[in-house]
Amino acid sequence: MKILGISGSARTPELSGTYKLVKTILEACGHEYDIISLRGKKICGCTACLGCVKDNVCKQPDDMESLRDKIIEADAYVIGSPNYFSTINAITHALLERLYQFRHREADLLWGKLAIAVGVGGSSGTCCCDEIEKFMSYSFIETIAKVSAQGAPSCYICGYGETCKVGALVMVHGEGYKIRKEDIPDVSKQPEAVNAAVEAGKLMAQRLSKGHNRKDVALKMQKLVMEKFREST
Ligand SMILES: Cc1cc2nc3c(=O)[nH]c(=O)nc-3n(C[C@H](O)[C@H](O)[C@H](O)COP(=O)(O)O)c2cc1C
Repeated sequence: MKILGISGSARTPELSGTYKLVKTILEACGHEYDIISLRGKKICGCTACLGCVKDNVCKQPDDMESLRDKIIEADAYVIGSPNYFSTINAITHALLERLYQFRHREADLLWGKLAIAVGVGGSSGTCCCDEIEKFMSYSFIETIAKVSAQGAPSCYICGYGETCKVGALVMVHGEGYKIRKEDIPDVSKQPEAVNAAVEAGKLMAQRLSKGHNRKDVALKMQKLVMEKFREST
């Protein structure tokens, strides 16, 4: 079984809480994996050109082309995004929009696969996990776990954090706060987040080794999505 990890963070892997959690989950899972950082990649949103309708291949010439085969080949996904303005960031959104290419005319390239959603924010990443889960469900992929943690807002390193009246530091610590290295949130120093990531990885391994039946999962997800869609219209 092969797992594809995708970190939507714009930061380097060393600085990114999202990347670290995605990697922790992949390692705990114990299956062969590939991890991709979207940092520096050029991925546009879906343009609704419908060029993918006939053959389920998106025709936009950008970095999504090289990811397409990896997405198809993977048996399961770990997808993470930083929290930007209380939702997933633009590049993660763009990538997930482009899964539209796999949805047409009963193409079951992704149906019934499993996913784990990761979200990291200066406050929390839960909104990102929920958003990723929603995208997954449209491809009839089951999100089996969500892992959220607190990452480091840029205000700790931007140079103005201590005096800025509208930044994260005044919100978290109040006025007059002086930056201390030990206060800077780091997901790898949060036992709850690391444990949740390890447990999520183990759950993925369990689900995949128990004779994972994609057809059953696809049917369950299809029913769920259709019901939700009907309710919301
Ligand atoms: C443009 C931008 C908007 C952000 N908006 C939010 C926000 O609304 N809520 C929040 O909790 N954190 C917000 N943050 C902080 C990031 O979520 C935080 O730095 C997180 O650690 C980023 O994940 P990463 O370390 O994987 O890059 C924002 C950061 C940026 C750059």
